[in-house]
Amino acid sequence: MKKLVKNGVIVTAADTYSGDILIEDGKIAAIGKGLDESSCEIVDANGAYIFPGGIDPHTHLDMPFGGTVTKDDFETGTIAAAFGGTTTIIDFCLTDKGKPLQNAINTWHAKSEGKAAIDYSFHLMIGEMNDQVLEQLPTIIEDEGITSFKVFMAYKDVFQADDATLYQTLIQAKELGALVMVHAENGDVIDYLTKKALEAGSTDPIYHARTRPPEIEGEATGRAACFTGLADSQLYVVHVSCAEAVNKIAQARNRGVNIWGETCPQYLVLDESYLEKPNFEGAKYVWSPPLREKWNQEVLWNALKNGDLQTIGSDQCSFDFNGQKDLGKNDFTKIPNGGPIIEDRMSILFSEGVQKGKITLNQFVDVTSTRTAKLFGLYPKKGTIAVGSDADLLIFDPTVKRKISAETHHMAVDYSAFEGMEITGEPVSVLCRGEFVIKEKQFVGKSGYGEYIKRSKFNERNEAQQSPVKL
Ligand code: URP
Ligand code: ZN
Ligand code: ZN
Ligand code: ZN
Repeated sequence: MKKLVKNGVIVTAADTYSGDILIEDGKIAAIGKGLDESSCEIVDANGAYIFPGGIDPHTHLDMPFGGTVTKDDFETGTIAAAFGGTTTIIDFCLTDKGKPLQNAINTWHAKSEGKAAIDYSFHLMIGEMNDQVLEQLPTIIEDEGITSFKVFMAYKDVFQADDATLYQTLIQAKELGALVMVHAENGDVIDYLTKKALEAGSTDPIYHARTRPPEIEGEATGRAACFTGLADSQLYVVHVSCAEAVNKIAQARNRGVNIWGETCPQYLVLDESYLEKPNFEGAKYVWSPPLREKWNQEVLWNALKNGDLQTIGSDQCSFDFNGQKDLGKNDFTKIPNGGPIIEDRMSILFSEGVQKGKITLNQFVDVTSTRTAKLFGLYPKKGTIAVGSDADLLIFDPTVKRKISAETHHMAVDYSAFEGMEITGEPVSVLCRGEFVIKEKQFVGKSGYGEYIKRSKFNERNEAQQSPVKL
């Protein structure tokens, strides 16, 4: 049945205006005033904002990591994402050295098919570069529509790739039309610093931060940017946490390097002091890169505002405090890294960013949806409100005041890293391809409704979309 969304304020990355949205066959069929209502289900937005559904470019669902597996899988994770206004995620498919890449992709399809409540796509981890890998990449791009590769510069002896692998991945990405993503921290130096810390008997969560100083995130970011310029390729730096990394990205862009950066809500609102909470509670705040000194938050907000950083990912990677985070009770290196945030990504950004005047309403849409769609080959199917685009819509009440809490969240974990945080604004209803997933704050979707999305190649995306010109 056709739907007509009425009485909303439509917000895109470019415009804010009153208008009604006609939905037919899962797509936006018309936008305007006085549209024909006959044979339509009427959806009354009651004056709320209508945003394009959020796109989260950085999730780890059902992922083996740190001797355990993330608590949220494609079912709980995508339902929680929908409650938070997100209608598409791009998850990281982890690969094993020496094994066919397709095996890993098949594993990720098996984890997600029949489970995801919203649409999803995959990035592919590249851990090594050799003839076998080279042979497989073109088919993966063509058949799977996976047009982004992830290289880890940290997690030595686990995921870390060497510089030659990163450089060759950049060369291949340019030729084949993919965007390279990096986790930029110097894994070798971290390895040395963590060994020294443990030798000295320093085992508390705070040492996670002390052994991963911002300088080495800046160093790795600069190194990756340098290789990108040399290869004349394209790079996206995930989870930027500090001024050192922002500066390297800005400097590289000013030299003409095709480079973009993502930050995450945790770096915008939490800081290093959380790792010092007593009774091992600091473990809840163990992310890599670590939370930084508070002054970095202003640098990150300014970077979002002025266009030096372009997107917000959640880096959803959830572990229970009891039974998972406590694997590292006597050794901070054994605390599984990451946190639950997929549900709160957009609300925190709206409340802390838009309501507090740090970014505009249109920038909010750009960084939570539109720019991500453009960079990762989802646009204009996703990422905007336009005739012909998927009817992925978030009806958002900007006035509701509420508290974030594990008691009320929908993620499968036993704590919230934002417990008690007071925020303004709340997703009311969420549609994915024209169907309600959340209706009046209730889940009405279906596990398995989400479709796997093949993405377009980087060089097939509109030049203007990719240009490093600032907003
Ligand atoms: O601590 C984090 N970020 N965990 C997830 C894995 C990664 O590095 O993105
Ligand atoms: Zn229908
Ligand atoms: Zn990472
Ligand atoms: Zn991550």
